[in-house]
Amino acid sequence: MGRNWWFLILTLQAVLHGVMGSMVKLQNGGFENIVIAINPGISEDDRIVSSIKGMIKEASSYLYSATKQKFYIKSVKVVIPLTWQSKPGYERVTTESFEKADVIVADPYLKYGDDPYTLQYGGCGEPGRYIHFTPNFLTNDSLLHVYGSRGRIFVHEWAHLRWGVFDEYNMNAPFYATGPQKAEATRCSADISGQYIFPLGTGKTRPCKFEHRTGLYEPGCQFIPDKVQSTSASIMYMQSLPSVTQFCDNSTHNTQATNMQNKLCNYKSTWEVIMDSADFAISSPVTGPLLDPTISLLQSQERVVCLVLDVSGSMGSYNRIGRLKQAAEVFIRQIVEIDSWVGIVTFQSSATIKIGLKQITSDSVREMLASYLPTTAGGGTVICDGLQKGYEVFMQKYSTAKGCEIVLLTDGEDSSISSCFPAVQSRGIIIHTIALGPSAAKELKQLSDMTGGLKFAATDNLDTNSLIDVFSSISSQTGDTSQLPIQLESKGETIAPRGWLDGTVIIDKTVGNDTFFVFTWSLSTYPPGILLKDPKGRKYSEADFTIDNTNVRSARLQIKGTAEPGEWSYSLMNTHTTSQVLSITVTSRAASASVPPLIVKPFMNTDNSVYPSPVVVYAEVSQGFLPVIGANVTATVEPQTGTPVELQLFDSGTGADIQKDDGIYSAYFIKFTGNGRYNIKVRVEGKDETVRRVRRQSQALYVPGYVEDGAIKMNAPRPEASEDEIQANLGDFSRTASGGSFVVQGVPPGGPTDVFPPCKITDLAAELLDDDGDDDTFLLSWTAPGNDYDVGKADRYEIKLSENPLSLQNENFHSATSVNASGLTPEDAGAKQNFTFKPEKFTKENGTALYFAIRAIDRSNNTGEASNIARAVLFLPRVLPTTPSPTEQSPRLNTVTLIVVIVCPGWSQTAGA
Ligand SMILES: *[C@@H]1O[C@H](CO)[C@@H](O)[C@H](O)[C@H]1NC(C)=O
Ligand SMILES: *[C@@H]1O[C@H](CO)[C@@H](O)[C@H](O)[C@H]1NC(C)=O
Ligand SMILES: *[C@@H]1O[C@H](CO)[C@@H](O)[C@H](O)[C@H]1NC(C)=O
Ligand SMILES: *[C@@H]1O[C@H](CO)[C@@H](O)[C@H](O)[C@H]1NC(C)=O
Ligand SMILES: *[C@@H]1O[C@H](CO)[C@@H](O)[C@H](O)[C@H]1NC(C)=O
Ligand SMILES: *[C@@H]1O[C@H](CO)[C@@H](O)[C@H](O)[C@H]1NC(C)=O
Ligand SMILES: *[C@@H]1O[C@H](CO)[C@@H](O)[C@H](O)[C@H]1NC(C)=O
Repeated sequence: MGRNWWFLILTLQAVLHGVMGSMVKLQNGGFENIVIAINPGISEDDRIVSSIKGMIKEASSYLYSATKQKFYIKSVKVVIPLTWQSKPGYERVTTESFEKADVIVADPYLKYGDDPYTLQYGGCGEPGRYIHFTPNFLTNDSLLHVYGSRGRIFVHEWAHLRWGVFDEYNMNAPFYATGPQKAEATRCSADISGQYIFPLGTGKTRPCKFEHRTGLYEPGCQFIPDKVQSTSASIMYMQSLPSVTQFCDNSTHNTQATNMQNKLCNYKSTWEVIMDSADFAISSPVTGPLLDPTISLLQSQERVVCLVLDVSGSMGSYNRIGRLKQAAEVFIRQIVEIDSWVGIVTFQSSATIKIGLKQITSDSVREMLASYLPTTAGGGTVICDGLQKGYEVFMQKYSTAKGCEIVLLTDGEDSSISSCFPAVQSRGIIIHTIALGPSAAKELKQLSDMTGGLKFAATDNLDTNSLIDVFSSISSQTGDTSQLPIQLESKGETIAPRGWLDGTVIIDKTVGNDTFFVFTWSLSTYPPGILLKDPKGRKYSEADFTIDNTNVRSARLQIKGTAEPGEWSYSLMNTHTTSQVLSITVTSRAASASVPPLIVKPFMNTDNSVYPSPVVVYAEVSQGFLPVIGANVTATVEPQTGTPVELQLFDSGTGADIQKDDGIYSAYFIKFTGNGRYNIKVRVEGKDETVRRVRRQSQALYVPGYVEDGAIKMNAPRPEASEDEIQANLGDFSRTASGGSFVVQGVPPGGPTDVFPPCKITDLAAELLDDDGDDDTFLLSWTAPGNDYDVGKADRYEIKLSENPLSLQNENFHSATSVNASGLTPEDAGAKQNFTFKPEKFTKENGTALYFAIRAIDRSNNTGEASNIARAVLFLPRVLPTTPSPTEQSPRLNTVTLIVVIVCPGWSQTAGA
């Protein structure tokens, strides 16, 4: 079994952690190479580093006992920003960076407390993106009361990040009904004891009132746990309680609580999800004494980049060589950050150093470097020679090439490419690869993966502007958004003779420094007619642009100072005698160091999909860690040959999007046209009327207080930024960004047949309609899935009900009791649907909770995954003395009390923390 087992392990590791850029390894139960990066915006403070050390040490032993000796933390790398003074003990960073870190330390843009959280965007069991701690959380001990010790919090967040489990509390649905006039705090386990307290301000409290209308405690009521408990679960609920040392498992799990764990993991306990992970499968309990984690300190250095560019004969076709210069010039003149070092190497049958490292200190250095970009092509393709010369460029200036970056572009294959892989890996150089055209070496992906570099692909289709997009996306990964190059527009179109390419570009208030307009054309030896107008009416024409009429064919204008915010309009006229492609690219940087720019970060759930698994495309739209919602986000997925496909991405909490309004927009991609590489580009358009920032909804549980020795001790209330400040007017804006590339295998010749099932329904809600009679009717509602995931129309539905949610989980779904849904027909994907029915054999019993699940099936009998499990609770009508509420008369005492279980809006809140 040895070999297959290893293969499985490697595959699982790649599937789980290949895309995020995380370099964490798990060996014999020890997590190695966890990267914790400090943002360059944070002022130097040694307490942050010592706090991290203490946190990790405590976390390791807490994790060890929580996982029954399965896992601990073996080594951590702390990345110190370049802005901090260098110290003798600091090592050089190699592939570690802020953007790829597992844990980031950064100030929030608007002060709204110090809640730690984990950015999660995948479903149950899928890893998250990063854990975010604020400097104040790490250094201010007064926060220990409200969050618990840092090591325990770390383990809570690590479980989110690594194993895709969710919170067992819910700030938006803090209570759930359990019986007639009885509600409980949303928690795990249900054995955690405490009191239901309403804070009156000034430290006073009173018991909470019970509301008959909702069947829950009044809004504002808080569950105050006893400080001393006898129960040990659960870490995903309140790790701050001293007795809590375990995750909820199948015996302690609370299957009634209205939390994200139950919603997204279909009532599975957190420990069961962890046991299902790839990590668990490859680990056995650790033997021997637990060692302290090793913590090394690394410091970021100035950026050092060498372009290693293919100039072999094939680069002469499709004017690739000219387009290479167009795009690489964008990188050198507009993208690479000030103070970086840049060198250029070209290769064909052998490699040449065109120019050694030069520091970008002025525009004239940029211009000088750009003049070394190649313009002619010929000869073979020896990639390893290119990489070797790139290494030599670094070694001319430094004693090690660790952490230096190579941008490798090639359009060809090279059978000897893997011969230099061992050398490349040992040198610690980061290699970003750009595969140009359909024949570029397949090994490029491996080269990027093993060195921690980015992977891009570009086609010869000029309309998509893909090569320029790629070079515009190779920014430094330091997390310094004030220096981040930002692409505002990128568009190409085939224009007939005398035809126009025109449109507008919004320069929003958050950007405007270092703004460039670049126009390109594909055929003529003279530029198109150019007219550009700023929001104040100032006009720019060909004469204002720097024009390159060689095979490069571009016109560039740099706007001095901070570009005028507002709508810039452009018109390009094709003055050539035949049709040609005209394109526009606009890049800029932040206008102010204190206001973070709006940014979009595209990414995917996998970079290596095996047909028919869908690829999920995500785009995170944010400003200074605050999600931005209400934007129009589209992705263009372009195969290496053939027509690009447009996808609309949604932040609706349906289909591929697990959480509504978290600023992460998602969609499934399944329109595979063949095997090979696909590249992704995302476009975001924000309209002032619809876009707004929102509070991050996932956040650690801020413990309101404890009951100690019978006395209620409240903590200070959570500090909140004002809603007005958070939702301030953002204005119109636009962004484009390349999302890198992925590879698809196993697509049958002739393209896909119908193998794609309807997607899982994630927003099923159930309620009992109160019709004052005996024949109770249930109302189910959900968003329709498609015929293929979220596209088209499914053929039919299956609905099941049960008194036990576990019997509705996907694997048990077929054997659960069916609801007759023959009268129900699916609507188009995305439509809201509902269904009412009267259960035949249903008898109202005391405290009966009924659970429902639904799945869709398409015409080819592809069956979708079972939905989330919705809960509806029904109680017998009874007149009971009520909890202190003398003035409040229940209007419904003689009727069935209806409890609506909020499934979608309320639950769609908390993923993370
Ligand atoms: C520590 O945090 C508390 C609560 O957020 C805050 O009131 C206090 O000012 C902080 N102390 C320091 C030294 O920042
Ligand atoms: C709970 O999980 C344990 C360990 O996996 C298993 O042995 C046990 O049968 C499970 N119990 C129930 C009630 O499912
Ligand atoms: C943008 O440019 C202005 C001057 O035009 C300068 O004052 C400001 O500091 C620059 N912003 C950043 C983030 O560099
Ligand atoms: C969203 O953006 C796409 C691409 O730019 C555009 O085609 C579409 O009309 C926009 N949709 C809305 C509702 O604005
Ligand atoms: C159920 O769906 C129908 C048709 O879409 C709609 O008219 C009706 O208002 C919906 N009912 C409820 C209670 O949502
Ligand atoms: C309903 O349940 C409650 C609590 O479990 C119990 O006290 C009561 O007697 C039950 N009533 C009926 C009618 O079964
Ligand atoms: C789908 O399944 C149904 C019932 O199981 C069967 O009658 C039908 O022929 C199947 N259709 C296809 C296209 O396989």
